[in-house]
Amino acid sequence: MERFVELRHLVKEFKPSGLRRLTGSAVRAVDDVSLTINRGSVFGLVGESGCGKTTLSRSLLYLDPPTSGEVVVKDTPLHTLSRKKLREFRSVMQIVFQDPNGALNPKMNIASSLKEGLINRGINRRERDDRIDDLLQQVGIAPTVKKRYPHEFSGGQKQRIVVARALTMEPEFLVLDEPVSNLDVSIQAQIINLFLDLKETFSLTYLFISHDLNLVSFLCDHIAVMYNGRIMEKAPAEELTKNPLHPYTRRLYSSVPGIHRMPAFSEAILSDADQRLTDFSQSCLYYPICPIRSEDCLEGRPELEDKGGGHYVACIHS
Ligand SMILES: Nc1ncnc2c1ncn2[C@@H]1O[C@H](COP(=O)(O)OP(=O)(O)OP(=O)(O)O)[C@@H](O)[C@H]1O
Ligand SMILES: [Mg+2]
Repeated sequence: MERFVELRHLVKEFKPSGLRRLTGSAVRAVDDVSLTINRGSVFGLVGESGCGKTTLSRSLLYLDPPTSGEVVVKDTPLHTLSRKKLREFRSVMQIVFQDPNGALNPKMNIASSLKEGLINRGINRRERDDRIDDLLQQVGIAPTVKKRYPHEFSGGQKQRIVVARALTMEPEFLVLDEPVSNLDVSIQAQIINLFLDLKETFSLTYLFISHDLNLVSFLCDHIAVMYNGRIMEKAPAEELTKNPLHPYTRRLYSSVPGIHRMPAFSEAILSDADQRLTDFSQSCLYYPICPIRSEDCLEGRPELEDKGGGHYVACIHS
């Protein structure tokens, strides 16, 4: 397996702004994340809202460089590159966001939107027109409508156009950040199939971010589970689906109908008084709501431990 992206101890902190700068401490949105994404794979990243998935992907792409740690792409650490080289490197990595409306300029027809990247890459006019027609066809949009504006397309069609635009950069790697969660359920499967087709046609590697565990289990070959900026568990998708170990992963799976039968997982939330009495600065981040916690969990933040077969879990009781 050839490594495409490797994250080494990635940390991203946000400093508080305004007056709070004087008193507030930095938010650690990504906390010591290490993972490897192999070429040709679909790597899934799951976790509840606000756990740091988008921040992780933006740091990975150097859209918002990490506070510390390394991003290594094709064996090159990105922090060692000059600005110009970094820009070149970054063009092989594109991102598709949840909301296609925000991604397309409403004042530009779609041919013009697609043209921009091709012009930047120095592709001549004739070749550009051919390339645009070709890419639109690849994503299931008839080239005859390329002079139309974004508002003339449905949500699913707009997402197809956004994908075509990403492909104008000839990427090798796409971050798909909840790419179907804004779309009608009936359209979602079509767009997922499109991603699968494009992956084969263009030999792509994906980082697929989602809340939808069903979808991630179906689509991905590896899954990492994120909680409060940290990876709590990572494993091959089939193994994680069959045998989730971390209490947080088990909670996520227990709420998915049909995918994994588990006894209902009641959360053992600490009372306010308990929360005040206990110092969590060194503890496992999941301690306050963990149903299997013990005093030992206050002693230190567990590292990911190898359980065999590529299955890692950060829990002393799993
Ligand atoms: N630019 C920023 N400045 C300050 N804090 C930020 C910034 N961007 C993100 N955060 C904080 O970082 C944490 C992680 O946010 P992030 O958007 O990465 O989560 P997410 O997992 O993508 O959530 P969602 O599933 O809702 O998209 C949150 O606490 C968020 O408030
Ligand atoms: Mg997000």
